[in-house]
Amino acid sequence: MDMNIALVPGDGIGPDIVKEAVRVLDRVAELYGHRISYKEIDAGGVSIDKYNVPLTEEALQTAASSDAVLLGAVGGPKWDHVPGHLRPEKALLGLRSGLGLFCNFRPAVIYPELSAASPLKPSVISGGVDLLVVRELTGGIYFGEKGRNDDGSEAFDVMRYSVKEIERIARKAFEAAAIRKKHVTLVDKANVLETSRLWRETVSRIACDYPDISVDYMYVDNASMQLVRDPRHFDVLLTENMFGDILSDEASMITGSIGMLASASLRDDKFGMYEPIHGSAPDIAGMNIANPIATILSAAMMLRYSFSLENEAKSIESAVSAALADGVRTRDIATDGDEAVGTAECGSEILRRIK
Ligand code: IPM
Ligand code: MG
Repeated sequence: MDMNIALVPGDGIGPDIVKEAVRVLDRVAELYGHRISYKEIDAGGVSIDKYNVPLTEEALQTAASSDAVLLGAVGGPKWDHVPGHLRPEKALLGLRSGLGLFCNFRPAVIYPELSAASPLKPSVISGGVDLLVVRELTGGIYFGEKGRNDDGSEAFDVMRYSVKEIERIARKAFEAAAIRKKHVTLVDKANVLETSRLWRETVSRIACDYPDISVDYMYVDNASMQLVRDPRHFDVLLTENMFGDILSDEASMITGSIGMLASASLRDDKFGMYEPIHGSAPDIAGMNIANPIATILSAAMMLRYSFSLENEAKSIESAVSAALADGVRTRDIATDGDEAVGTAECGSEILRRIK
């Protein structure tokens, strides 16, 4: 297969980790007989430095004309003083909305080899945690009207959702649940927010089309408690944009390290953008310390969702598991007594285990 991939290394550790994911992809291509061509795009702080904007129209067009996008991370303290509409994060939001990627999958899985790294008690996570956060990604308060009043004494951000926006993400969640444990939990704040009441009505209607999938409804404050009290309750956790942002960080920590979690941002065709859920960690950029696993696993998700290459995706995931089982640890996931490897060594250890 021919694959055209747009690479967005971004800022901080972004270039370090994307580099390792590319080496892994190249190895898979070599073993399975595929051809990959890459186009690199500037987005985030690097783009601000070069072009004074976080995302150029040209960069967006290059991403849009690729088959899939692999992104590292954007942002850093260097750009903290720039005005809100020019922040590096705007690049990410611009790519998500500009490319129509309304569906964000964030799987949180505990690797048995890493269970010691989870801050939760063994009795809470025994038997494994495997949940999928399905986050609406192009609506809600992130993209609603925002501003200040004339004298600057008030600010506002509007949360707005249409039935259509809720329906399409709900269907994605039910379809995901159908090939998992057949359970969807809608997380909202329907006791307070009108948007949440629309989510509940819409999701319960859509649920009728998926009779073999059980649904429950949970307020977001309760859900944030249940995630640490009994994470095994969850299979697919469906939620709006901002709740999904917050809960996916919480879910990631259950697994021990935010450096392990991959994500896919999708729409109704095969196109997608894939990125680790962690940030740009500028304090360790370029030091060969960062954990590349989340990005490598994001590349696996890319092969699965954008190219339907299930075996190839599994070969990467198996290689990651094998490396972990053999004790390969970057600093963030090393526990007492483990000797930590660097970013590049971690990439190499995974690479040579790909079958
Ligand atoms: C994430 C990040 C982004 C978000 C930021 C960087 C804009 O936190 O992908 O979770 O809030 O969506
Ligand atoms: Mg976040």
